[in-house]
Amino acid sequence: MSRYPFPAVPDGWFAVAASEDLVTGEVTTLHYLDRELVAFRGEDGGARVFDAHCPHLGAHLGVGGRVCGDGIVCPFHGWRFDGDGLLAEVPRLDRRPPRVSAGTWPVCELNGRLFVWHHAGGAPPAYALPHYRSEGAWTPWRVDTYRVRVHVQELTENIIDRSHFYAVHDMVPPDDDVFEVTFTDHVMTVDQNIKVTALADTGYEVRTRTTVCGPGAVAVEVREGSLDMLTYITQTPVDAEISEITICFSMAALEDAAFTASVAELNAKVTNLQFTQDVPLWENKIYRDRPRLTAVDGPIAAYRRWFDRFYSAPGAS
Ligand code: FES
Ligand SMILES: [Fe+2]
Repeated sequence: MSRYPFPAVPDGWFAVAASEDLVTGEVTTLHYLDRELVAFRGEDGGARVFDAHCPHLGAHLGVGGRVCGDGIVCPFHGWRFDGDGLLAEVPRLDRRPPRVSAGTWPVCELNGRLFVWHHAGGAPPAYALPHYRSEGAWTPWRVDTYRVRVHVQELTENIIDRSHFYAVHDMVPPDDDVFEVTFTDHVMTVDQNIKVTALADTGYEVRTRTTVCGPGAVAVEVREGSLDMLTYITQTPVDAEISEITICFSMAALEDAAFTASVAELNAKVTNLQFTQDVPLWENKIYRDRPRLTAVDGPIAAYRRWFDRFYSAPGAS
């Protein structure tokens, strides 16, 4: 029986690779979204994601398949698919190949990552992901990746689960108690002050803006004086049990490179500490469909109503 009363894979954009890992001409096998996929970068530089198995007799395109032009050639009988996934050539066939398509996935590449669009009903992308780090000098992404036994819906519920901050994380209530949550279409925005005690007992209070864009991408921005820091988190269902979470950090480079590096290091330490503090709770909890909430809880019911929009096919994945 499923651990959750909703599909394993919501509708939305999900990161499946780092851009730098997709080398032109190489085929990579991916297992995400509860299925087998292949990704490759064609000779035009564009990234593509196809179903792993050939529509002909089912060979795995990631096992011996090779990039040809913008497309890929199957290792079994040499069918060649173009960059749009259409069958372009059947070796030795002296007529036009039949109208056959490899299973293709809409992709977008931004913020250093490759995303695929999943929709249970096969609908085209319903929103775009925001672009970050487009101007100014930013530090290179620092990347930490985790695999956790939890559904992605639970991961972002954590952001508005106010009362766990003080029980699980090294935080105390902020002096200026800002906590504003808004839901607009596919975006949840949380403006809040947090006071972190992980580095000093007296606490360090900062204003944060967290933007959750669909079920697969989260940006946490902190701007404080000359500091401009971005924690960019992608979360992708691997299968019905496991999610992969990638925490990327980048900040506007300050004049003092050593100081920049130390701030980045401290931030990474706190972010990763906070993340790992949640892991045992996520991996062992059950999902309560009708929780008894109190006034100190965050807007959990509103969050769940909002997240429901990402399930076009309840009970399916
Ligand atoms: S299985 Fe792919 S060409 Fe035959
Ligand atoms: Fe948490």
